[in-house]
Formats: sequence, C-alpha cells, structure tokens
Amino acid sequence: MTDKATAIELDRVTLRLGARTVLNDVSFTIRAGEFIGVLGPNGAGKTTLMRAILGLMPPSAGRLRVFGHEPHRADHQIGYLPQVRTVLPDLRLRGRDFIAASLHGERWGLPLHSRADRITINETLALVGAEELAERPLSDMSGGERQRLLLAQALIGRPRLLVLDEPLISLDARHQEIAIDVVRQACRERGITVLFSAHELNQLIGTLDRVLYLGNTQAVLGTVDEVITAPVLSALYGTEIRVVRAEGHIFVMARGRDVEHVEHQHEHGHEHGHAHDHGHGHHH
Ligand SMILES: Nc1ncnc2c1ncn2[C@@H]1O[C@H](COP(=O)(O)OP(=O)(O)OP(=O)(O)O)[C@@H](O)[C@H]1O
Ligand SMILES: [Mg+2]
Repeated sequence: MTDKATAIELDRVTLRLGARTVLNDVSFTIRAGEFIGVLGPNGAGKTTLMRAILGLMPPSAGRLRVFGHEPHRADHQIGYLPQVRTVLPDLRLRGRDFIAASLHGERWGLPLHSRADRITINETLALVGAEELAERPLSDMSGGERQRLLLAQALIGRPRLLVLDEPLISLDARHQEIAIDVVRQACRERGITVLFSAHELNQLIGTLDRVLYLGNTQAVLGTVDEVITAPVLSALYGTEIRVVRAEGHIFVMARGRDVEHVEHQHEHGHEHGHAHDHGHGHHH
C-alpha cells in the first residue's frame, strides 16, 4: 500500500518512445502537497514523464503510481496544461465558457452556468488576471492570453495534482509572476501537488520545494542545494557543467555558456505526436 502522503511514485520506471529510451530505470517519490520544479535540457523527457503520469503512455518497465493507483486518462484529480497548445477546441467560445468546460468534468459544455458556477468562474478568471478575457472569443486572443485561460482551466476543477508543462512560455514577465503566484497559492492553501516544468530555475527558486532534474535518461529529485551542483548536473548533461551562484541566482554553465538560457531559445509548437492532448484542462 502506498502511503497517503505519497502523490507520485516511480519504481524502476523505463519510458520509451519508438527506439528511444527517454528515462531508464528511474525511481523517486513525490509527497502530496509538494511543489516540484521539473527541469532539464530539451529532449530530457519532461513532457514524456508528465504524459506517463497522466496515463497517456504506459511505462515499458517498472511501476508508476499516482495517489496509489496506476494512472488512467480522464482522471479528474489532475489538472493538466500541455506544452503544445497551438490548437484549441472551438475558437468561438468565450473565455468564461472555455474555462467552465472543466468545471464539472464535461468538455465543452453548454454556456449555461449556475450562480455558484459563475462565481467560481469569475474567481478563477480573476486569479490568473484574465477578467477582461471572460466575454471575448478565443479566436480574438493572443497566445499568452489563451495560455492564461488554459491555466485557469487546469485550476478550476479543484484538482489534487497540477501537471503544468512549461506554463511560463509565451507569457510576459508580469503574467509569469502571476502564474507562479497562483500556482504557489493553490499548492500552499489547498495542498495541491504541483509538477511545474520550466527552463529557468531562478524564477522558481523561492517557490519550489524540490527540483526534479532530468537528463541522460536519468532523474535526480532533491532540494536545490542537493541537485543544482556541478557533479549531479555534469552526470545529467553528460558534459562538464559548472554551477555559479551570484546575488541569489544560480547559473548552470557549460563551457562558459549559461545552458538554461541558451537551451531555452526554441519556440515550441511543432512537437511529435502530442496533437491529441491539446488544450484540456482535465484530460479525457
Ligand atoms: N515518437 C517518438 N519516437 C522517438 N523519439 C521520440 C518520439 N517522441 C519524442 N521522442 C524523443 O523523446 C525525447 C523526450 O522528449 P520530451 O518531449 O519528453 O522532452 P522535454 O524534456 O519535454 O523537452 P523540451 O524541453 O524540448 O520540452 C526527445 O529526445 C524526443 O525527440
Ligand atoms: Mg517538453
């Protein structure tokens, strides 16, 4: 039996995509209520791991448990913000109807809401700073505006676990801060477990409880001080890494280059085969 305080447990898990082994024989345990920053270079397996936790791809070896059970799709305990979010369901939907779709588990429900629902919808829109998007159709919104609604959609169903894949990409600095604050608050006040992938560690340092760093088919889970060290990261990157601390910031450097910044310059949106999980707050 898994402990009630355990949210996610990997026991010697191997994840393969085609001929590629993304994670090999990985074990760790995430406690309920922890805010976990998921980091690692492009292709390290952050998205793949999240999809496995959501039950969207089975491990090829080992045991994966979420709240004591094998993960299954359509789990309303989980709020999901997928990394690839270029396609949205119905662009005619207004902001409020779009996020409301996750409220009772139904997908794109009728735009008729009870009074209690309307209050929840308005509160959630306010939480992500998206009140002004309530009445506007998705078709008229910018990428960052839609993304804020996707975050609202992931939050609105009161999940036990939030799986957020690169939630900061395409947000401006102010909305990045809002997004981090909202998720931190949900984690602290409601005891929600959070997996939050990002390329920039520094923004999350004051917020995360532990870091899950992926690389070279391996994963290391620990505090920032335990994980963000030259020996650990050199093993994960497979190359000599230096860790430089300055004024409360940590820079992860390979041959004098800040790898977090250098590797973050890609635009997402043309990824392999994830087309079917675009834009769900709660995946089905
Ligand atoms: N169908 C597939 N067949 C073979 N390899 C695949 C397939 N799909 C993905 N991969 C590879 O699996 C690896 C893990 O990809 P994943 O998207 O999980 O990485 P990531 O850590 O999320 O990267 P990013 O920072 O770019 O989002 C990548 O090297 C990718 O090219
Ligand atoms: Mg990814």
